[in-house]
Amino acid sequence: MTTSTRILAIETSCDETAAAVVENGRTILSNIIASQVDLHAQYGGVFPEVASRRHIEVIHTVVNQALEAAHLGLDDVDCIAVTQGPGLVGSLLVGVNMAKGLALARNKPLLGINHIEGHIYSLWLSEEAADFAFPILNLVVSGGHTELYLMVDHGRYQHLGGTLDDAAGEAFDKVGRLLGLPFPGGPAIDRAARSGNPQAYKFPRGVMDDGFNFSFSGLKTAVMRQIQPTPAQRHAIPDVAASFQAAVVDALVTKTERAALAYGVTAVHLAGGVSANSALRQTMKERLSIPVRFPPPILCTDNAAMIAAAAHWHFIAGQHHPLDLDVIPSLQLV
Ligand code: KG4
Ligand code: ZN
Repeated sequence: MTTSTRILAIETSCDETAAAVVENGRTILSNIIASQVDLHAQYGGVFPEVASRRHIEVIHTVVNQALEAAHLGLDDVDCIAVTQGPGLVGSLLVGVNMAKGLALARNKPLLGINHIEGHIYSLWLSEEAADFAFPILNLVVSGGHTELYLMVDHGRYQHLGGTLDDAAGEAFDKVGRLLGLPFPGGPAIDRAARSGNPQAYKFPRGVMDDGFNFSFSGLKTAVMRQIQPTPAQRHAIPDVAASFQAAVVDALVTKTERAALAYGVTAVHLAGGVSANSALRQTMKERLSIPVRFPPPILCTDNAAMIAAAAHWHFIAGQHHPLDLDVIPSLQLV
């Protein structure tokens, strides 16, 4: 008889309070996400103190909803997993303290998970994952990260390159604000770009050396020089959005393609909030000759199912953490 493993995971690293139950690292039994995006929209970005206070208010409800939706009690789960870092210290603390409390109360093993590893495992929440073969190249593109990781086995990574300044999502959010679009800027630019011409403006592509690093701060400055959010320039927004997006996508695809060829990977996996971008998905598929995979939209942005999926492989390898687990706001994957 094969036994299944069920993991309850909690994710509170930024502005989503999330809890999920995942079976065998692959099957989502529940995936509850309480987004704070409306709360932070008035500030044009995530306000850390406001974020941690909201996490405290909703964490119990979110965890209970995750168990109820999975039709399970706490005693039915094999392990409690939680995002340990990277992220906002006050936000991380809420999730880690909740997870420690549950593990202590029910005598369950506890696992602290790296948020970036969680994004990488968002692609493994599928039956097709049974056929994935290593090495895999992961491009993690979110509000805080733009990183290329070679994955040679479960839990074994090599960092190939990353952004030298702004993350791709951060650039989307800053340019969105500049164009007077609603927060967060990424989805708003993606929408605005659909009616714009990506060749209308020639924006810089960042570091075009022969390595695997990115740079997006020059691009942001170039957009700033091009347009002021005045009523007279409103008509230019779709063209600027499309041209900016094309520059980000070109930089991401060029470096990813180069790394994929250099390391002979079987596939490229896109993960993180920016992997929801329609132009990035389309261009990556068009330009690469190997399979390009990305998660469904609900698993691109922060969620706890991906944390449970990553935790599964640590759990079956016999790992767990002591109950005095601490948050690590600048936790590195490798
Ligand atoms: O992974 P995520 O939810 O949180 C972090 O860990 O940072 O990513 C959020 C980021 C934001 O910067 C948001 O603007 C961006 O993902 N984003 C997008 C799109 N949807 C979300 N960027 C470009 N195009 C999109 N469709
Ligand atoms: Zn994230």
